Amino acid sequence: MSKSVLVVGSGGREHALAWKLSQSNDVSKVYVAPGNGGTTLVAENVDISFTDVEGLLNFAREEQIDLTVIGQEAASEAGLVDAFNDAGLSIFGPTKAATLIESSKVFSKDLMSEQNIPTAQYKTFSDATKAFEYIKTRSLPIVIKADGLATGKGVIIPETLEQAEKAIQDIMIDKIFGEAGGSVVVEDFLKGQEVSMHALTDGTNSVIFPPSQDHKQVFDGDKGPNTGGMGVIAPLDWVKPEQISKIQEKVVSPALEGLKKKNSPFIGCLYPGLMLDGQDVNVIEFNARFGDPEAEVYMRLLDCDLYKILSDCAAGNLNPESVKWRDGYAATVVLASPGYPGDYPKGLPITGLEEAEKLDDIVVFHAGTALKDGNFVTAGGRVLNVTATGDTLQNALDKAYEAVKLINFEGMHYRTDIGQRV
Ligand SMILES: Nc1ncnc2c1ncn2[C@@H]1O[C@H](COP(=O)(O)OP(=O)(O)O)[C@@H](O)[C@H]1O
Ligand SMILES: [Mg+2]
Repeated sequence: MSKSVLVVGSGGREHALAWKLSQSNDVSKVYVAPGNGGTTLVAENVDISFTDVEGLLNFAREEQIDLTVIGQEAASEAGLVDAFNDAGLSIFGPTKAATLIESSKVFSKDLMSEQNIPTAQYKTFSDATKAFEYIKTRSLPIVIKADGLATGKGVIIPETLEQAEKAIQDIMIDKIFGEAGGSVVVEDFLKGQEVSMHALTDGTNSVIFPPSQDHKQVFDGDKGPNTGGMGVIAPLDWVKPEQISKIQEKVVSPALEGLKKKNSPFIGCLYPGLMLDGQDVNVIEFNARFGDPEAEVYMRLLDCDLYKILSDCAAGNLNPESVKWRDGYAATVVLASPGYPGDYPKGLPITGLEEAEKLDDIVVFHAGTALKDGNFVTAGGRVLNVTATGDTLQNALDKAYEAVKLINFEGMHYRTDIGQRV
Protein backbone atom coordinates (compact mmCIF):
# COMPACT_ATOMS: atom_id res chain seq x y z
CA MET A 1 0.00 0.00 0.00
CA SER A 2 1.18 3.51 -0.58
CA LYS A 3 -0.56 5.91 1.73
CA SER A 4 0.10 9.61 2.09
CA VAL A 5 -0.04 11.36 5.44
CA LEU A 6 -0.21 15.02 6.48
CA VAL A 7 1.10 16.00 9.93
CA VAL A 8 -0.08 19.37 11.23
CA GLY A 9 2.30 21.42 13.38
CA SER A 10 5.89 22.62 13.53
CA GLY A 11 7.54 21.36 16.72
CA GLY A 12 9.73 18.50 17.87
CA ARG A 13 6.55 16.50 18.41
CA GLU A 14 5.64 16.79 14.73
CA HIS A 15 9.17 15.82 13.67
CA ALA A 16 8.90 12.73 15.89
CA LEU A 17 5.44 11.81 14.52
CA ALA A 18 6.58 12.31 10.91
CA TRP A 19 9.75 10.26 11.60
CA LYS A 20 7.73 7.34 12.97
CA LEU A 21 5.05 7.57 10.26
CA SER A 22 7.73 7.55 7.55
CA GLN A 23 8.86 4.11 8.84
CA SER A 24 5.46 2.55 8.22
CA ASN A 25 5.38 0.00 5.39
CA ASP A 26 2.03 1.41 4.35
CA VAL A 27 3.25 5.00 4.03
CA SER A 28 4.95 6.25 0.90
CA LYS A 29 4.73 10.00 1.48
CA VAL A 30 4.65 12.24 4.56
CA TYR A 31 3.92 15.97 4.47
CA VAL A 32 4.23 18.35 7.42
CA ALA A 33 2.40 21.68 7.53
CA PRO A 34 4.22 23.93 8.17
CA GLY A 35 7.03 21.78 9.68
CA ASN A 36 10.53 22.95 10.59
CA GLY A 37 14.10 22.53 9.33
CA GLY A 38 14.35 18.97 10.61
CA THR A 39 11.05 17.68 9.26
CA THR A 40 12.55 18.03 5.75
CA LEU A 41 14.78 15.05 6.65
CA VAL A 42 11.79 12.67 6.75
CA ALA A 43 8.97 14.53 5.01
CA GLU A 44 8.06 17.35 2.65
CA ASN A 45 7.18 20.67 4.27
CA VAL A 46 4.04 22.42 3.09
CA ASP A 47 3.82 26.14 3.69
CA ILE A 48 0.35 26.24 5.26
CA SER A 49 -0.24 27.47 8.80
CA PHE A 50 -1.77 24.98 11.26
CA THR A 51 -4.81 27.16 11.82
CA ASP A 52 -5.52 27.67 8.10
CA VAL A 53 -8.44 25.22 7.96
CA GLU A 54 -9.39 26.02 4.34
CA GLY A 55 -5.81 25.78 3.15
CA LEU A 56 -5.24 22.41 4.84
CA LEU A 57 -8.55 21.04 3.59
CA ASN A 58 -7.76 22.05 0.01
CA PHE A 59 -4.29 20.55 0.25
CA ALA A 60 -5.60 17.24 1.64
CA ARG A 61 -8.18 17.06 -1.15
CA GLU A 62 -5.75 17.90 -3.94
CA GLU A 63 -3.04 15.52 -2.75
CA GLN A 64 -5.57 12.82 -1.83
CA ILE A 65 -4.14 12.54 1.68
CA ASP A 66 -5.17 9.25 3.32
CA LEU A 67 -4.71 10.40 6.91
CA THR A 68 -4.14 13.79 8.53
CA VAL A 69 -2.55 13.76 12.01
CA ILE A 70 -2.90 16.77 14.29
CA GLY A 71 0.10 17.56 16.47
CA GLN A 72 -0.61 21.14 17.43
CA GLU A 73 -3.75 21.80 19.56
CA ALA A 74 -4.45 25.17 17.91
CA ALA A 75 -5.45 23.21 14.77
CA SER A 76 -8.11 21.27 16.70
CA GLU A 77 -9.29 24.44 18.40
CA ALA A 78 -9.61 26.09 14.97
CA GLY A 79 -12.04 23.32 13.91
CA LEU A 80 -9.80 21.34 11.54
CA VAL A 81 -11.35 18.01 12.54
CA ASP A 82 -14.89 19.31 12.13
CA ALA A 83 -14.05 20.55 8.62
CA PHE A 84 -12.38 17.24 7.64
CA ASN A 85 -15.29 15.24 9.06
CA ASP A 86 -17.75 17.31 7.02
CA ALA A 87 -15.64 16.71 3.92
CA GLY A 88 -15.42 12.96 4.60
CA LEU A 89 -11.62 13.02 5.03
CA SER A 90 -9.80 10.86 7.57
CA ILE A 91 -8.20 12.77 10.44
CA PHE A 92 -6.63 11.89 13.81
CA GLY A 93 -7.53 14.47 16.45
CA PRO A 94 -10.47 15.82 18.48
CA THR A 95 -13.27 18.07 17.25
CA LYS A 96 -13.43 21.67 18.40
CA ALA A 97 -16.05 20.70 20.99
CA ALA A 98 -13.97 17.82 22.39
CA THR A 99 -10.86 20.05 22.43
CA LEU A 100 -12.59 22.16 25.11
CA ILE A 101 -11.15 19.67 27.61
CA GLU A 102 -7.84 21.46 26.97
CA SER A 103 -8.84 24.84 25.55
CA SER A 104 -11.12 25.85 28.44
CA LYS A 105 -9.88 25.23 31.97
CA VAL A 106 -13.34 26.07 33.31
CA PHE A 107 -14.97 23.44 31.03
CA SER A 108 -12.28 20.93 31.96
CA LYS A 109 -12.63 21.38 35.73
CA ASP A 110 -16.42 21.23 35.50
CA LEU A 111 -16.17 17.99 33.48
CA MET A 112 -13.86 16.52 36.14
CA SER A 113 -16.28 17.49 38.84
CA GLU A 114 -19.29 16.00 36.97
CA GLN A 115 -17.38 12.76 36.38
CA ASN A 116 -15.84 12.53 39.87
CA ILE A 117 -12.34 12.67 38.46
CA PRO A 118 -9.84 13.39 41.26
CA THR A 119 -8.53 16.95 40.99
CA ALA A 120 -7.71 19.92 43.21
CA GLN A 121 -10.69 21.63 44.87
CA TYR A 122 -11.61 24.74 42.86
CA LYS A 123 -14.06 27.50 41.98
CA THR A 124 -14.41 29.44 38.74
CA PHE A 125 -14.88 33.21 38.52
CA SER A 126 -15.56 35.88 35.95
CA ASP A 127 -15.57 38.60 38.63
CA ALA A 128 -12.20 39.72 40.01
CA THR A 129 -13.49 40.87 43.42
CA LYS A 130 -15.24 37.54 44.03
CA ALA A 131 -12.16 35.62 42.95
CA PHE A 132 -10.03 37.48 45.50
CA GLU A 133 -12.64 37.06 48.26
CA TYR A 134 -12.48 33.29 47.65
CA ILE A 135 -8.68 33.25 47.70
CA LYS A 136 -8.74 34.85 51.15
CA THR A 137 -10.67 31.83 52.44
CA ARG A 138 -8.12 29.26 51.11
CA SER A 139 -4.59 28.45 52.17
CA LEU A 140 -1.46 29.56 50.32
CA PRO A 141 0.14 28.93 47.91
CA ILE A 142 -2.93 29.02 45.66
CA VAL A 143 -3.20 28.31 41.93
CA ILE A 144 -4.82 30.82 39.53
CA LYS A 145 -5.45 29.69 35.95
CA ALA A 146 -6.65 31.79 33.03
CA ASP A 147 -9.53 29.94 31.36
CA GLY A 148 -8.33 29.91 27.74
CA LEU A 149 -5.24 28.73 25.86
CA ALA A 150 -2.29 30.92 26.88
CA THR A 151 0.61 28.95 25.32
CA GLY A 152 1.49 27.34 28.63
CA LYS A 153 1.87 30.66 30.44
CA GLY A 154 -1.62 31.23 31.85
CA VAL A 155 -1.01 29.76 35.33
CA ILE A 156 0.21 31.81 38.30
CA ILE A 157 0.96 30.30 41.74
CA PRO A 158 1.08 33.14 44.30
CA GLU A 159 2.67 32.52 47.70
CA THR A 160 1.23 35.62 49.40
CA LEU A 161 -2.11 37.45 49.34
CA GLU A 162 -0.41 40.51 47.81
CA GLN A 163 0.89 38.37 44.93
CA ALA A 164 -2.55 36.78 44.54
CA GLU A 165 -4.23 40.19 44.37
CA LYS A 166 -1.76 41.30 41.72
CA ALA A 167 -2.25 38.07 39.73
CA ILE A 168 -6.03 38.57 39.69
CA GLN A 169 -5.53 42.19 38.60
CA ASP A 170 -3.06 41.14 35.86
CA ILE A 171 -5.16 38.29 34.47
CA MET A 172 -8.75 39.52 34.87
CA ILE A 173 -8.52 43.30 34.65
CA ASP A 174 -5.31 44.15 32.78
CA LYS A 175 -5.81 41.00 30.63
CA ILE A 176 -2.12 40.10 30.28
CA PHE A 177 -3.21 36.82 28.65
CA GLY A 178 -5.87 38.55 26.54
CA GLU A 179 -9.37 37.09 26.41
CA ALA A 180 -8.04 33.81 27.87
CA GLY A 181 -8.22 35.65 31.22
CA GLY A 182 -11.90 36.65 31.06
CA SER A 183 -12.62 33.82 33.51
CA VAL A 184 -10.28 32.06 35.90
CA VAL A 185 -10.08 28.81 37.81
CA VAL A 186 -8.81 29.21 41.37
CA GLU A 187 -7.67 25.89 42.80
CA ASP A 188 -5.81 24.43 45.75
CA PHE A 189 -2.11 23.74 45.45
CA LEU A 190 -1.16 20.05 45.06
CA LYS A 191 2.16 18.64 46.20
CA GLY A 192 3.93 15.66 44.71
CA GLN A 193 5.54 14.50 41.49
CA GLU A 194 4.15 15.62 38.13
CA VAL A 195 3.63 12.80 35.66
CA SER A 196 2.41 12.83 32.05
CA MET A 197 0.08 10.07 30.84
CA HIS A 198 -1.14 9.64 27.28
CA ALA A 199 -4.13 7.63 26.10
CA LEU A 200 -4.83 6.88 22.47
CA THR A 201 -8.54 6.59 21.78
CA ASP A 202 -11.01 6.09 18.96
CA GLY A 203 -13.81 7.62 21.04
CA THR A 204 -14.74 4.32 22.70
CA ASN A 205 -11.68 2.09 23.01
CA SER A 206 -8.58 3.49 24.63
CA VAL A 207 -5.07 2.38 25.44
CA ILE A 208 -2.78 4.02 27.92
CA PHE A 209 0.95 4.69 27.26
CA PRO A 210 3.73 4.14 29.79
CA PRO A 211 4.11 7.08 32.18
CA SER A 212 6.59 9.84 31.36
CA GLN A 213 7.95 12.88 33.15
CA ASP A 214 8.63 16.31 31.68
CA HIS A 215 10.83 18.99 33.28
CA LYS A 216 9.02 22.31 32.92
CA GLN A 217 11.33 24.79 34.65
CA VAL A 218 14.16 26.23 32.62
CA PHE A 219 17.04 25.66 35.08
CA ASP A 220 18.53 22.71 36.96
CA GLY A 221 16.90 21.87 40.27
CA ASP A 222 13.49 22.94 38.88
CA LYS A 223 14.46 26.60 39.19
CA GLY A 224 13.39 29.53 37.05
CA PRO A 225 10.28 30.16 34.97
CA ASN A 226 8.22 27.45 33.29
CA THR A 227 8.94 26.55 29.67
CA GLY A 228 7.24 24.34 27.11
CA GLY A 229 9.36 21.48 28.56
CA MET A 230 13.14 21.00 28.85
CA GLY A 231 13.42 17.22 28.84
CA VAL A 232 11.49 13.97 29.29
CA ILE A 233 12.08 10.44 30.50
CA ALA A 234 9.94 7.32 30.03
CA PRO A 235 8.87 4.93 31.38
CA LEU A 236 8.88 5.71 35.13
CA ASP A 237 9.58 2.60 37.21
CA TRP A 238 8.31 4.20 40.37
CA VAL A 239 4.78 4.54 38.97
CA LYS A 240 3.35 1.12 39.77
CA PRO A 241 0.98 -0.87 37.51
CA GLU A 242 -1.82 -0.43 40.11
CA GLN A 243 -1.49 3.34 39.81
CA ILE A 244 -1.56 3.12 36.01
CA SER A 245 -4.77 1.04 36.17
CA LYS A 246 -6.21 3.57 38.61
CA ILE A 247 -5.44 6.38 36.14
CA GLN A 248 -7.18 4.43 33.38
CA GLU A 249 -10.26 3.78 35.56
CA LYS A 250 -10.59 7.01 37.51
CA VAL A 251 -9.23 9.53 35.01
CA VAL A 252 -9.12 8.46 31.37
CA SER A 253 -12.33 6.39 31.10
CA PRO A 254 -14.59 8.85 32.98
CA ALA A 255 -13.21 11.78 30.97
CA LEU A 256 -13.99 9.99 27.70
CA GLU A 257 -17.44 9.00 28.97
CA GLY A 258 -18.11 12.57 30.07
CA LEU A 259 -17.31 13.94 26.62
CA LYS A 260 -19.43 11.25 24.98
CA LYS A 261 -22.38 12.23 27.18
CA LYS A 262 -22.02 15.77 25.89
CA ASN A 263 -22.22 14.43 22.32
CA SER A 264 -18.60 15.28 21.67
CA PRO A 265 -16.71 11.98 21.76
CA PHE A 266 -12.95 12.41 21.88
CA ILE A 267 -10.81 10.88 19.14
CA GLY A 268 -7.07 11.38 19.34
CA CYS A 269 -4.54 11.50 22.13
CA LEU A 270 -5.86 12.46 25.55
CA TYR A 271 -3.01 13.55 27.77
CA PRO A 272 -3.75 14.17 31.43
CA GLY A 273 -1.07 15.98 33.44
CA LEU A 274 -1.16 14.40 36.90
CA MET A 275 0.17 15.04 40.38
CA LEU A 276 1.14 11.82 42.19
CA ASP A 277 1.66 11.94 45.93
CA GLY A 278 2.07 8.50 47.49
CA GLN A 279 -1.10 6.66 46.52
CA ASP A 280 -2.93 9.89 45.65
CA VAL A 281 -3.53 10.72 42.01
CA ASN A 282 -4.92 14.13 40.99
CA VAL A 283 -5.43 15.65 37.57
CA ILE A 284 -3.69 19.00 37.00
CA GLU A 285 -5.10 19.44 33.51
CA PHE A 286 -6.10 17.59 30.37
CA ASN A 287 -4.40 18.16 27.04
CA ALA A 288 -6.04 17.14 23.78
CA ARG A 289 -2.90 16.05 21.88
CA PHE A 290 0.52 14.44 22.29
CA GLY A 291 2.87 16.24 24.66
CA ASP A 292 5.93 17.98 23.34
CA PRO A 293 8.57 16.74 24.25
CA GLU A 294 6.72 13.60 25.47
CA ALA A 295 5.97 12.53 21.87
CA GLU A 296 9.70 12.42 21.17
CA VAL A 297 10.36 9.67 23.74
CA TYR A 298 7.13 7.81 22.97
CA MET A 299 7.97 7.61 19.26
CA ARG A 300 11.35 6.11 20.14
CA LEU A 301 9.74 3.44 22.35
CA LEU A 302 6.71 2.59 20.23
CA ASP A 303 7.14 -0.85 18.66
CA CYS A 304 4.28 -0.97 16.18
CA ASP A 305 3.10 0.77 13.04
CA LEU A 306 2.06 4.35 13.93
CA TYR A 307 0.05 4.78 10.73
CA LYS A 308 -2.00 1.70 11.54
CA ILE A 309 -2.92 2.71 15.08
CA LEU A 310 -3.67 6.36 14.25
CA SER A 311 -5.79 5.48 11.22
CA ASP A 312 -7.63 2.86 13.32
CA CYS A 313 -8.40 5.58 15.89
CA ALA A 314 -9.66 7.89 13.15
CA ALA A 315 -11.85 5.09 11.77
CA GLY A 316 -13.26 4.23 15.21
CA ASN A 317 -11.78 0.74 15.43
CA LEU A 318 -8.66 0.88 17.58
CA ASN A 319 -7.53 -2.50 18.87
CA PRO A 320 -5.79 -1.67 22.18
CA GLU A 321 -3.72 -4.88 21.85
CA SER A 322 -2.08 -3.55 18.69
CA VAL A 323 -0.19 -0.80 20.56
CA LYS A 324 3.18 -2.30 21.49
CA TRP A 325 6.28 -0.99 23.25
CA ARG A 326 9.90 -2.03 23.07
CA ASP A 327 11.83 -2.84 26.24
CA GLY A 328 14.07 -0.20 27.73
CA TYR A 329 13.95 3.52 28.31
CA ALA A 330 14.10 6.76 26.37
CA ALA A 331 15.26 10.24 27.34
CA THR A 332 15.11 13.61 25.61
CA VAL A 333 17.22 16.65 26.43
CA VAL A 334 16.01 19.95 24.97
CA LEU A 335 18.58 22.43 23.66
CA ALA A 336 17.23 25.98 23.92
CA SER A 337 18.06 29.39 22.47
CA PRO A 338 19.88 31.98 24.61
CA GLY A 339 17.26 33.91 26.59
CA TYR A 340 14.48 31.29 26.26
CA PRO A 341 11.78 31.24 27.72
CA GLY A 342 12.14 35.01 27.34
CA ASP A 343 13.19 36.77 24.12
CA TYR A 344 15.86 35.09 22.02
CA PRO A 345 17.73 35.69 18.77
CA LYS A 346 17.12 33.60 15.63
CA GLY A 347 19.27 32.46 12.74
CA LEU A 348 22.26 31.15 14.77
CA PRO A 349 24.17 28.41 12.89
CA ILE A 350 23.97 24.94 14.48
CA THR A 351 26.98 22.59 14.37
CA GLY A 352 27.57 18.93 15.23
CA LEU A 353 24.18 17.43 14.30
CA GLU A 354 25.58 14.76 11.98
CA GLU A 355 28.28 13.76 14.46
CA ALA A 356 25.68 13.47 17.22
CA GLU A 357 23.39 11.28 15.14
CA LYS A 358 26.26 8.94 14.28
CA LEU A 359 26.32 7.83 17.93
CA ASP A 360 24.36 4.68 18.77
CA ASP A 361 20.66 5.03 19.56
CA ILE A 362 20.51 8.81 19.04
CA VAL A 363 17.87 10.66 17.06
CA VAL A 364 17.73 14.45 17.13
CA PHE A 365 14.21 15.78 16.65
CA HIS A 366 14.15 19.41 15.53
CA ALA A 367 11.80 22.02 16.96
CA GLY A 368 12.84 25.64 16.32
CA THR A 369 15.18 25.15 13.35
CA ALA A 370 15.20 26.32 9.74
CA LEU A 371 17.32 25.45 6.73
CA LYS A 372 19.48 28.29 5.42
CA ASP A 373 21.72 27.63 2.40
CA GLY A 374 21.72 23.92 3.21
CA ASN A 375 22.65 24.40 6.89
CA PHE A 376 20.47 24.27 9.97
CA VAL A 377 20.03 27.51 11.94
CA THR A 378 17.99 28.31 15.06
CA ALA A 379 14.45 29.59 14.49
CA GLY A 380 12.65 29.18 17.83
CA GLY A 381 13.01 29.04 21.61
CA ARG A 382 13.27 25.29 21.99
CA VAL A 383 15.62 24.31 19.17
CA LEU A 384 16.46 20.59 19.33
CA ASN A 385 15.37 17.46 21.21
CA VAL A 386 18.30 15.09 21.59
CA THR A 387 16.67 11.71 22.13
CA ALA A 388 18.33 8.46 23.18
CA THR A 389 17.19 4.95 24.03
CA GLY A 390 18.93 2.59 26.44
CA ASP A 391 18.60 -0.62 28.46
CA THR A 392 18.40 1.42 31.63
CA LEU A 393 17.23 4.96 32.20
CA GLN A 394 20.75 6.02 33.22
CA ASN A 395 22.13 4.48 30.04
CA ALA A 396 19.63 6.43 27.89
CA LEU A 397 20.47 9.65 29.75
CA ASP A 398 24.23 9.09 29.42
CA LYS A 399 23.90 8.58 25.67
CA ALA A 400 21.70 11.67 25.28
CA TYR A 401 24.19 13.87 27.16
CA GLU A 402 27.10 12.38 25.19
CA ALA A 403 25.35 13.50 21.99
CA VAL A 404 24.48 16.92 23.46
CA LYS A 405 28.23 17.59 23.93
CA LEU A 406 28.76 17.35 20.17
CA ILE A 407 26.08 19.91 19.24
CA ASN A 408 26.52 23.65 19.52
CA PHE A 409 25.11 27.06 18.68
CA GLU A 410 25.92 30.41 20.25
CA GLY A 411 24.38 30.76 23.71
CA MET A 412 22.81 27.26 23.67
CA HIS A 413 21.53 26.15 27.07
CA TYR A 414 19.97 23.01 28.49
CA ARG A 415 19.29 21.28 31.78
CA THR A 416 21.98 18.92 33.05
CA ASP A 417 19.69 17.12 35.51
CA ILE A 418 17.00 15.52 33.33
CA GLY A 419 15.80 12.30 34.94
CA GLN A 420 17.47 12.99 38.31
CA ARG A 421 14.36 14.14 40.17
CA VAL A 422 13.28 10.85 41.75
N1 LIG B 1 -3.21 22.58 41.51
C1 LIG B 1 -1.89 22.68 41.27
N2 LIG B 1 -1.00 22.43 42.24
C2 LIG B 1 0.32 22.55 42.05
N3 LIG B 1 0.86 22.93 40.87
C3 LIG B 1 0.02 23.18 39.84
C4 LIG B 1 -1.38 23.06 39.97
N4 LIG B 1 -1.96 23.36 38.79
C5 LIG B 1 -0.94 23.66 37.95
N5 LIG B 1 0.25 23.55 38.56
C6 LIG B 1 1.58 23.79 37.97
O1 LIG B 1 1.46 24.73 36.91
C7 LIG B 1 1.82 24.13 35.65
C8 LIG B 1 0.90 24.63 34.55
O2 LIG B 1 -0.45 24.30 34.87
P1 LIG B 1 -1.38 23.56 33.81
O3 LIG B 1 -2.72 23.38 34.45
O4 LIG B 1 -0.69 22.35 33.34
O5 LIG B 1 -1.56 24.65 32.68
P2 LIG B 1 -0.87 24.92 31.28
O6 LIG B 1 -0.07 23.71 30.89
O7 LIG B 1 -2.01 25.18 30.37
O8 LIG B 1 -0.02 26.13 31.50
C9 LIG B 1 1.72 22.63 35.92
O9 LIG B 1 2.57 21.91 35.04
C10 LIG B 1 2.13 22.53 37.37
O10 LIG B 1 3.54 22.58 37.49
MG1 LIG C 1 0.34 21.87 31.51
